[in-house]
Amino acid sequence: MILKKNINQRNYVSLLLIAKTMSYPYQILTEQEYQDKYQQSILAPEKFWAEVASHFSWHRKWDEVLNYNFETAHTHWFVNGKLNITENCIDKHLKNKGDNIAIIWESNFENEESQFITYKQLHERVIKFTEVLKNNGIKKGDRICINMGMIPELAIAVLACARIGAIHSVIFGGFSASSIADRLEDTEAKMIICCDGAYRGDKIIPIKKIIDDSILIYNKVETVIIYKRSKTEIDFNPDRDKWWHEEEAKITLINDQPEIMDSEDPLFILYTSGSTGKPKGAVHTIGGYMIYTAYTFVNVFQYSPGMIHFCTADIGWITGHSYIVYGPLLAGATSLMYEGIPTWPDAGRFWKIIDKHKVNIFYTAPTAIRSLMSFGHSQFDNAILSSLKTLGTVGEPINEEAWKWYFDHVGKGKCPIVDTWWQTETGGILISSLSGVTDASPTFAGKPLPGIQPVILDEQGKEILTFNKQGNLCIKFPWPSIIRTTYKNHDRCRSTYFSIYSNKYFTGDGAYRDESGNFRIIGRVDDVLNVSGHRIGTAELENVLNSHSLVIESAVVGYPHEIKGEGIYAYVICDPEQEMNNSLHQELIEIVKHQIGSFARPDKILIVPGLPKTRSGKIMRRILRKIASGEHEQLGDLTSLLDSSVVEKIILLARS
Ligand code: WTA
Repeated sequence: MILKKNINQRNYVSLLLIAKTMSYPYQILTEQEYQDKYQQSILAPEKFWAEVASHFSWHRKWDEVLNYNFETAHTHWFVNGKLNITENCIDKHLKNKGDNIAIIWESNFENEESQFITYKQLHERVIKFTEVLKNNGIKKGDRICINMGMIPELAIAVLACARIGAIHSVIFGGFSASSIADRLEDTEAKMIICCDGAYRGDKIIPIKKIIDDSILIYNKVETVIIYKRSKTEIDFNPDRDKWWHEEEAKITLINDQPEIMDSEDPLFILYTSGSTGKPKGAVHTIGGYMIYTAYTFVNVFQYSPGMIHFCTADIGWITGHSYIVYGPLLAGATSLMYEGIPTWPDAGRFWKIIDKHKVNIFYTAPTAIRSLMSFGHSQFDNAILSSLKTLGTVGEPINEEAWKWYFDHVGKGKCPIVDTWWQTETGGILISSLSGVTDASPTFAGKPLPGIQPVILDEQGKEILTFNKQGNLCIKFPWPSIIRTTYKNHDRCRSTYFSIYSNKYFTGDGAYRDESGNFRIIGRVDDVLNVSGHRIGTAELENVLNSHSLVIESAVVGYPHEIKGEGIYAYVICDPEQEMNNSLHQELIEIVKHQIGSFARPDKILIVPGLPKTRSGKIMRRILRKIASGEHEQLGDLTSLLDSSVVEKIILLARS
């Protein structure tokens, strides 16, 4: 059937093409240019970012580039600018690049054909799905949760939301029904877009079943749209559930009207763990996020037209938002999306995908690299990998051994590695080398990108200017994609990020800087664990463990783990009155799987008689971390403990 389109001409006529001839922002090509641009961006940040923004399409130009106040945690970029981000991701490319591939999709199964979606086809599919959303009552400002597995329809759903001004909140496929319900409740989602089941290697995740369970906990969702992927049997509730394909089949007229949005309207909410028990919804807004993800994509990876970019992240995390969907599409690039896992059907799968599609930029996580290292060299038996130009890592510090393996075996000694440091809250990469342009040395993320002003502070807030001395990493000036708020709780945003140090954004990471100005990120200094690149709050885990009827108290810490980077060690005090339950260990693991998801299950659980506490009742996690790492002899000063004998008891139990 040929669809009739009633494309609203007004949008195209009024589209203020401030956009310059280059379809993406200025690209830095030499070390000297980096230094010049960096200086310009620091001396006149507003002029610098206004120039970058001038490469995009706006319906109305901004009145003011930046308006901010770190004390109240308010940041506004491109004030009163009007735009639709999807016109910049898609429509802008239609004239000259309409037949270029926007998305390559590689199935979980090697024998299933890949999909190649051109910019024109992406446009068709996105505007068609906006009709489905509108037909189901979705309007600007409504929140939609998306939980789908890595299929192109996920990107289409995200873009369709953005096109009509609905706020998307993508939920990682590994979350349990209970975690999903928390997110549904916090966002007050009207709609969920999901699939029947998602393939991951030889497993099928029963996504619709998990969604049904989450709706039993939060029952205010009006519509569930289901994309049929795995053909898994589902329970279908006719009052609420709708098949994606049936909804699309109902559409006869497309009345494409991209909503004209304010630069500071929310684009999405993405939940992330912090120091307290409840994950927070990081909110990103449209204009600044658009400019920054495009700028960093082009510059960090040194993207040039025609390149194929493969980011292995899940779209449920910020990396997938910024460097599978928005950044690459804004630059008119080809973004490869892969449904499966690195090690299925064997450890050579990434390398086969790279050779099959002649991938030029490959962006993955250190935990995936370390896991692949353990499979030996035979994974490269049939791999050529000659198309690769840039390798990237993200999500956690990369150890030197993994860096070298990646450089030698994947990059064949010729591809620069960009070790990109950033966070959900930063929206895009803040510290990294620029591929082949600025220096990259193993374990160092590198220098700040233009516009980023990092400082290392001591506990008193004094700047550490000495080289190689560790402190807390903060940023002293806003960049366009800085977090705007934590959803429905602005004070949490202010107190977490902007009040620890006056007039600075606090990252929660420890870092130092070497003589050449390169930053090395040590890891979190707050109570957040980074397990295989997943952020998990210790308080969140402790709440879950404490909910078991036999548990009186628990303390969770991280310890070095060969593959995951950080493993989870849980110390648990149980009710001595109760008969010791042999299956407690397994029950605690199950409770974590049930309340959060399998990825958060503790690696070790130790039942202890007490926890090391100060006289004021604070748990001394430093000691628990040392014990978890096996450093029993180097516990430091124990005099401030209320009862130091408990430490010896814990050590004895840990050794046994
Ligand atoms: C850590 C992921 C060292 C860091 C984009 C940060 C890193 C947290 C790196 C954010 C890196 C991320 N080197 N550590 N290159 N990249 N991290 O929000 O601790 O999932 O604070 O965002 O990951 O994790 P998030």
